[in-house]
Amino acid sequence: MEAVVVDAGSKLLKAGFAVPDQPPSMMIPTQMKRMPEDGSTGDDSPIEETVDPISRGFITDWEAMEDLLHHVLYSGLGWEIGDEGQILFTDPLSTPKAIREHLVQLMFETFNVSGFYAIEQAVLSLYAVGRISGCAVDVGHGKLDIAPVIEGAVQHIASRRLEIGGMDLTRLFAQELGKSNPHINVSIAEVEKIKEQYACCAEDDISYAKIEQLCQEEKHTLPDGQVLAIGKERYTVGEALFQPSILGLEADGIVEQLVRTISTVSSENHRQLLENTVLCGGTVSLTGFEERFQKEASLCSSAIHPSLVKAPEYMPENLTLYSAWIGGAILAKVVFPQNQHITKGDYDENGPSIVHRKCY
Ligand SMILES: Nc1ncnc2c1ncn2[C@@H]1O[C@H](COP(=O)(O)OP(=O)(O)OP(=O)(O)O)[C@@H](O)[C@H]1O
Ligand SMILES: [Mg+2]
Repeated sequence: MEAVVVDAGSKLLKAGFAVPDQPPSMMIPTQMKRMPEDGSTGDDSPIEETVDPISRGFITDWEAMEDLLHHVLYSGLGWEIGDEGQILFTDPLSTPKAIREHLVQLMFETFNVSGFYAIEQAVLSLYAVGRISGCAVDVGHGKLDIAPVIEGAVQHIASRRLEIGGMDLTRLFAQELGKSNPHINVSIAEVEKIKEQYACCAEDDISYAKIEQLCQEEKHTLPDGQVLAIGKERYTVGEALFQPSILGLEADGIVEQLVRTISTVSSENHRQLLENTVLCGGTVSLTGFEERFQKEASLCSSAIHPSLVKAPEYMPENLTLYSAWIGGAILAKVVFPQNQHITKGDYDENGPSIVHRKCY
């Protein structure tokens, strides 16, 4: 049985058996609904409560996470109780040690896995495009991770984790749409879908300033028949990644953040890192994002300009949506057959702290 690879994000959990050149067989929302204790679903039940087992990339609700993984592994992927296989998890940048230990403990003690491995998402996103060195810029739902990687090792001191992600852009979009459509109530889930359809990036900040003055409105019909006017808001969402002050943050824009991150690494590595920049995460599929990123990169003040790695042709379309998972599937084909993973014996002998020695 192939190992299972799980990349659990703040919005989407990607999971499947390790088949490297195919998309993950499961991509499901991580958000769950809390059911009343008695299991009733009647109309008189209180307002539905949702639970996010993962916040800003990190597992925060272990009970919900256990339920989610139970569903994924047994119902979704067909593991059988008593015959569980091996599993590889992707870690977001700067995962606290306690979370790594808790996960390995959950896997061996509750799920009885036969082998475990965990590795950083940034390293895996580079593997997905055939690199062991470069810089991964992951703009997900809950966070933006910028990680220089040299020979498969994240340069932790230089890496940056910013709490800006798709969820913040969705909130911003909701707020801006509310201003121009004050009489229309739209749920945040609906706003997120509309964001994915309409949001985009202007060519540069000058075009953005022009759009702010004059932008054609589009009409979007909501499922209940109400019509939403969408104008400059669609550009404001994309612009926020390049001008975080729009979100009320003092941080530099994404390209400047990348260049500054790399400037803290030893200068002999700058070219290799900047010229192997990989964009990944769902939010980078914003229309016009890549073009804007490249334009700012070509104009930036550093001696070496960042340039983007193209995904190999044999990789599935929309690779950026699940690069970390694909890299995990590639690595699983090496780690488990070569016995570099944590075995049940290793775990029983050493306890959860083994994860820091064997998975790095
Ligand atoms: N076409 C699109 N335009 C804008 N945003 C998009 C688009 N497609 C997906 N997204 C956004 O990408 C985000 C999901 O990306 P991703 O799956 O990388 O996040 P995640 O892995 O669940 O979260 P994280 O890694 O931050 O914990 C959501 O906020 C979603 O709205
Ligand atoms: Mg992610």
